[in-house]
Amino acid sequence: MNKLLITLFGLSVAWATGLAQAQTPPATAPAAAPTKAPATNAAGPASPKSLEAKVAMCVGCHGIVGYKASFPEVYRVPQIAGQNAKYIAAALNAYKTGDRKHPTMRGIAESLSDQDVADISTYYENLGKESRRAIAAEKPSREPSPEVAALLQKAACASCHGANFSKPVDPSYPKIAGQYADYVFVALKAYKTENNPAMGRNNGVMGAITKQFSNAELKALANYVGSLEGEMATVPEPRFHRSH
Ligand code: HEC
Ligand code: HEC
Repeated sequence: MNKLLITLFGLSVAWATGLAQAQTPPATAPAAAPTKAPATNAAGPASPKSLEAKVAMCVGCHGIVGYKASFPEVYRVPQIAGQNAKYIAAALNAYKTGDRKHPTMRGIAESLSDQDVADISTYYENLGKESRRAIAAEKPSREPSPEVAALLQKAACASCHGANFSKPVDPSYPKIAGQYADYVFVALKAYKTENNPAMGRNNGVMGAITKQFSNAELKALANYVGSLEGEMATVPEPRFHRSH
């Protein structure tokens, strides 16, 4: 009996030690690594950043519900999950070239290659899609006041931003329904801002449109657009899916 127990004990120790040895890399591994590294580098450029690493730069602001920016005033950081990929890419490129003046976003956009921009834009267009119900409605979720209706009419906002302001006529145009109203107001004012080296957006179409309105009118438009049900969201946790 005792002999058997001792044998079993001995076997299990041997098994455990064997396992431990199998899991420990051979002592020669670190020495072998340097000889392998130059070969990999010679095969091509430095390995591209993973999608996860690229998006990690964004989640600290765009992934936090209620996170606010303070330049040029305090407003919520825009929702980008669910936005059109082509528009996201256009916006990132505008921060890069300076057509959109925003110091933080410029610094970030400048660090992105064209491939990074394409990958990140597609990622955000699809982020959280499965947990959102597409807004099939052809009509906005609430009617504008007569005053706001007149403003929307005056600049034919829906003729470009589409039904429910969520189906833009061109994928490089933004969805705006449900975007944070305080951000929308800041964005609309930015299109009006010209010849200011520190702020503003240089866009022929939206520049001409916003100049027809007072800031109070832009605010009324922003509050209405922001109050609608939309397809965008701030998605807190980055969840990586293989599906596209
Ligand atoms: C430090 C905070 C911060 C970080 C980090 C950040 N953003 Fe932004 N982002 C902002 C703010 C603030 C704005 C609004 C700027 C403005 O008013 O034009 C913005 C605007 C944008 C817009 C324009 C949205 C629209 O509706 O036009 C896009 C697209 C965007 N960011 C993508 C990204 C991506 C992609 C990353 C990561 C690679 C990133 N941002 C990282 C703060 C941040
Ligand atoms: C002729 C087409 C057209 C019309 C009409 C139009 N827009 Fe736009 N809008 C655009 C385009 C294109 C952009 C993207 C510009 C850019 O790249 O910055 C844009 C951008 C915006 C943005 C910025 C979105 C963001 O996420 O930063 C808002 C807000 C907006 N439009 C609201 C409106 C409102 C409100 C009206 C009516 C008063 C209107 N637009 C009329 C084409 C149009």
